[in-house]
Amino acid sequence: MNPEAESRQLVQKLLPEVDEIQDATLREAVITIWASAWESSEWKILDECPKSPDLPSTRTLVTHSRTVAQISINMCEVLARQNSLSINKDEVIAIALLHDVSKLHEFTKTSAGSSKSAIGNKYQHGFLGAFWMQQAGLSVDLVHAVIAHTPLSNVIPQTQEALIVHYADFADTDSLLLDAGLPLFCKRK
Ligand SMILES: [Fe+2]
Repeated sequence: MNPEAESRQLVQKLLPEVDEIQDATLREAVITIWASAWESSEWKILDECPKSPDLPSTRTLVTHSRTVAQISINMCEVLARQNSLSINKDEVIAIALLHDVSKLHEFTKTSAGSSKSAIGNKYQHGFLGAFWMQQAGLSVDLVHAVIAHTPLSNVIPQTQEALIVHYADFADTDSLLLDAGLPLFCKRK
């Protein structure tokens, strides 16, 4: 198997929620973006990249991405059912899995664990992921959702799918911050 196919296979194994995306083109794009972001990063072991340099290193980007995807899927199903809304579940899963993929380049390994990389200090969080999505030909609404997911962005979520991932990300992030005794996102000005 060539190295590219191996990377894609490992991404699919570590992020099994990707298989819940019914649209094959979208599913393949999510896998390709993750695999190429990983291959071009300094992280030799994909699930060593942290969720945040501030959190314990056991809180990984892979686990966070999976948790946000799972919360998002549940939110999508409840909101669609209870509020009679039409929400695109494929898009919700894709946004959730891609919202933080840029962290593979935004963080760097240090002797103490990890810190922000030069790119992480110079690019706004999420920009690179959105850029890769645009390059891959994903829709404006999907790219928008990744740009809007972070409170650092001046753009607020403008679709149901973007809104779901924004709050799912907050839910997991604040749960991890509370557990680590760190200030919560919901209390930041
Ligand atoms: Fe996140």
